[in-house]
Amino acid sequence: MEVSEATWLFGVMLAFAAVTPPALHYLKAKTLAATQQFPEDPPNLPKLTILLPVRNESIVIRDKLDEILGMEYPLSRVSLLVVDSSSTDQTESLAREHLEKNAEGVSWKIENAERLGKSIAVNMALDAIETEIFVMMDADAMLQPSSLRLLARWFQDPMIGAVCGQLNLPHESPRHPYRSRFNTLRVGESVNDSTPIFEGSICAFRMSAIGHSRIDSGNNADDSQLAMVVRRNGFRAIMDPEIKFFEPNSEKSTGKRSRRVRRAQGLSRAFWANRNLRSKRYGAYASVFSSQLYFHLIFPWLFSVSVAIICLSFICGILEFPENGWHTVFFPGAILVMGSASGTCRGILDGSLVLIQSHLLLLTGRRLHIWEPDAEMRLAIRRNRRESG
Ligand code: GDD
Ligand code: MN
Repeated sequence: MEVSEATWLFGVMLAFAAVTPPALHYLKAKTLAATQQFPEDPPNLPKLTILLPVRNESIVIRDKLDEILGMEYPLSRVSLLVVDSSSTDQTESLAREHLEKNAEGVSWKIENAERLGKSIAVNMALDAIETEIFVMMDADAMLQPSSLRLLARWFQDPMIGAVCGQLNLPHESPRHPYRSRFNTLRVGESVNDSTPIFEGSICAFRMSAIGHSRIDSGNNADDSQLAMVVRRNGFRAIMDPEIKFFEPNSEKSTGKRSRRVRRAQGLSRAFWANRNLRSKRYGAYASVFSSQLYFHLIFPWLFSVSVAIICLSFICGILEFPENGWHTVFFPGAILVMGSASGTCRGILDGSLVLIQSHLLLLTGRRLHIWEPDAEMRLAIRRNRRESG
């Protein structure tokens, strides 16, 4: 019967159709990324507020504060704002004692947020920040001493509203290929106009680019939400690959599925809530945004369905062999074998399933905007910092 043959062909065509728009977006981003230009250091360094949102970070908090105090930036131009959301592990008292002992000459403050959720803490901080530029960091990201200076240089351009750094994974990491494509996309989008996907581990914002806007405190993608706010308000939000941050080389943690699902859900929700950023009014950003909206909301379903169709037609081919002829087993079988042999195909399917899982959780009312820190990863960071002195 010709039905099974038509079925696997349909699956293949659907997969190609689904992949084509993101593939074109990637190729364009790759070309643009290679042309990124970097600003000179400014003659006068701006005053900065460093926002450090924390919850249950007792393992890393002191090292993180030392990292901040050791930045190549005049500390007289830095204020530190730690927002602690009801930590139950003495994060606050550890931070307070550490700052009292070591932060002479730096103005610092620790605020408390009763309700849990990083986005709530971020909104609270937005009401308290008094400098025009603020830098936000994660307690567990490891930064270079040049980070503040490299961020600050971008704000000489009055159109720049937000800048973020880039995660650098070691070459041997299994997630390196995915990350390097992710980074290329973010930089290419930045050159084109702006990237809607941001890195909260190290990022900086111009307060006047945020204005009175606030983020959805019930969604976790605080970083990307802020980047979208900035673009909506007419400024650019970009990634600078020279501002690198590091995570310990412990794959169990950095690639943890629960964390990927949380981030996927936050992004999907932020894209949906901001879907009117597809409007032509936003110039080149409209196509960047549409592309990512498609990639996060529609693509995972199309791609997974196409794979399921090919699998099904292969199974039917086997069950109905030999009546249907060898080709209904051979072609879908060969495609499945080639697909599973290709790291890229496996990665695309894996990423699609993570997104689908995050959508299904959302549809069943499970929001992932409050989470626990990954202790295993924090311990690895502490070891890492100790080893590197
Ligand atoms: N104040 C406050 N309140 N801070 C919090 C809370 C909270 O309820 N929950 C987490 N944080 C802090 C952590 O202490 C850490 O400094 C930072 O937010 C990031 O949390 P991680 O536990 O390290 O999460 P991640 O590595 O997956 O974070 C990534 O995704 C998040 C969104 O899901 C980063 O990109 C974050 O910047 C981003 O917010
Ligand atoms: Mn983290």
